[in-house]
Amino acid sequence: MRNTFSLFFLLSYFMLIQCDLEGEQVGENLKHEIPTWHQNCVILSDVTEEDIIALRKGKFEDEDNEAVKKYFSCIILESKAMDANFKVNMTLVDYYLPKQISDDVFPTYLTCAKEARELDASFEDKAWSFFKCFYDSDPEHFILP
Ligand SMILES: *[C@@H]1O[C@H](CO)[C@@H](O)[C@H](O)[C@H]1NC(C)=O
Repeated sequence: MRNTFSLFFLLSYFMLIQCDLEGEQVGENLKHEIPTWHQNCVILSDVTEEDIIALRKGKFEDEDNEAVKKYFSCIILESKAMDANFKVNMTLVDYYLPKQISDDVFPTYLTCAKEARELDASFEDKAWSFFKCFYDSDPEHFILP
């Protein structure tokens, strides 16, 4: 009985998170891709769901979490919205972010991509900086698959 309840609460929790992601800040095209990117990158990086949930809320404290950095790198490369040099693909950004949102999010996205690009660091460290910059600059529109 106890386990049934735990499972129920766990499921409700994940459904809540899912609803969060389905808010208006995520366009249809992006919404469609997010579960795939998430699944692929969890497998590749070995990151925990707990870490991802914490990061979505802005808990960027652990700079040494290699799994998280791998996850961020994987998401960037999977989405192809930026290339390995953090150059933004406008066509794909337009495709994934609806106009009314991209007007708000896009400047942050570009600024953070530029900031990451100019760092003298590994791709994984740049990926970490990019997502941290994104959250710090605009927590309201932060998207982490
Ligand atoms: C941007 O993405 C589109 C769609 O995947 C692709 O066709 C195009 O070649 C990309 N542009 C660059 C500069 O990589």
